Amino acid sequence: MRKVTISLLKADVGGFPGHATVHPGICKKAEEILTDAAESDIITDFHVMGVGDDLELIMGHYKGENDEEIHGLAWRVFTECTNVAKILKLYGAGQDLLKDAFAGTVRGLGPGASEIVFTERTGEPLVAFMMDKTEPGAFNMPIYKMFADPFNTAGLIIDPSMHLGFRFEVWDIKEHKRVFMECPEEMYDMLALIGSKSRYVIKRVYPREGHPKLPADEPVASISTEKLFEVAGEYVGKDDPVGLVRAQSGLPALGEVLEPWTLPHIVSGWMRGSHNGPIMPVSFANAKCTRFDGPPRVVAAGFQIANGKLHGPVDLFDDPAYDAARDEANVIANYMRRHGPFEPHRLPSEEMEYTTLPKVLKKLEGRFELIQ
Ligand code: F6R
Ligand code: MG
Ligand code: MG
Repeated sequence: MRKVTISLLKADVGGFPGHATVHPGICKKAEEILTDAAESDIITDFHVMGVGDDLELIMGHYKGENDEEIHGLAWRVFTECTNVAKILKLYGAGQDLLKDAFAGTVRGLGPGASEIVFTERTGEPLVAFMMDKTEPGAFNMPIYKMFADPFNTAGLIIDPSMHLGFRFEVWDIKEHKRVFMECPEEMYDMLALIGSKSRYVIKRVYPREGHPKLPADEPVASISTEKLFEVAGEYVGKDDPVGLVRAQSGLPALGEVLEPWTLPHIVSGWMRGSHNGPIMPVSFANAKCTRFDGPPRVVAAGFQIANGKLHGPVDLFDDPAYDAARDEANVIANYMRRHGPFEPHRLPSEEMEYTTLPKVLKKLEGRFELIQ
């Protein structure tokens, strides 16, 4: 059977206003190009949306991961949308298109990518999570909880097909290395890594060898791990990660995939990519970054995949069940903001994406005295 590919490719091509949202004219341009691509059978289906200032392209096709035609299509959308952004004088037009020359893949050029290739089951629920004003490590805790924490996912204990646990692919994004770890056996070792979320990030999750319903070589979750800072060599905005998670029938149920987001955990990003703050689960309508350019937000778009078609999305956080998490996020945001320029609201200087510290130190160079 042909395997389907879901590609979620995203970029900030200009904000409206500031870094708050995506202008409707940008989404319209993206929709026009992808409608043509669907009519020419390059993709089977698509959905375009804005989350904060990021343009999100969710596409179904049969061409696999890192396909030149699909990435070329996304690159064309991002460049043509940048032209629209320039005409409208949107803020930071083309912000995430860091390199000019497309050479077969958008990876390494600035946009973020989460792609997943799998054999479609009889019923195939999939959730696209999209974040703004934070970085890939923001996914570590929720993905860990979905696939490894029995206090989150009851199925790990009571569903015989999940009892074996899952296999995690963890990337060291500083040294460009990866390691595969089996949970529950290696849970403590894995937590030792992924707790350092600015360096070790979960890239993919797989069923383990022997899963009664699913092949061990087809991922069940995939997260974008691009670090814009690494691409550009200087601060150019946060990475604003996205992730795709499959659910049900030997995988965490939809509700187990959504359960971790009841905790507005602390992520780095927010104002100037240099602050810690709570991540707030919001509806599509509230996917706009306002207060102190945030707080960082996440939306959940639910789909049923059928022969490459994306039925949906359902706006999964548009639900009073997430009101308490949003209220808690606001309480935490107030508390954190009261720290102003002090850590741990402001990130430690090594992790700050913009800083005047070297200049301040230079200015004070001759004035530092040795203490006896
Ligand atoms: C964070 C972000 C914003 C900007 C801030 C300053 O990822 O994009 O918080 O860093 O609005 O933006 P500039 O330097 O463009 O004025
Ligand atoms: Mg921006
Ligand atoms: Mg953004």
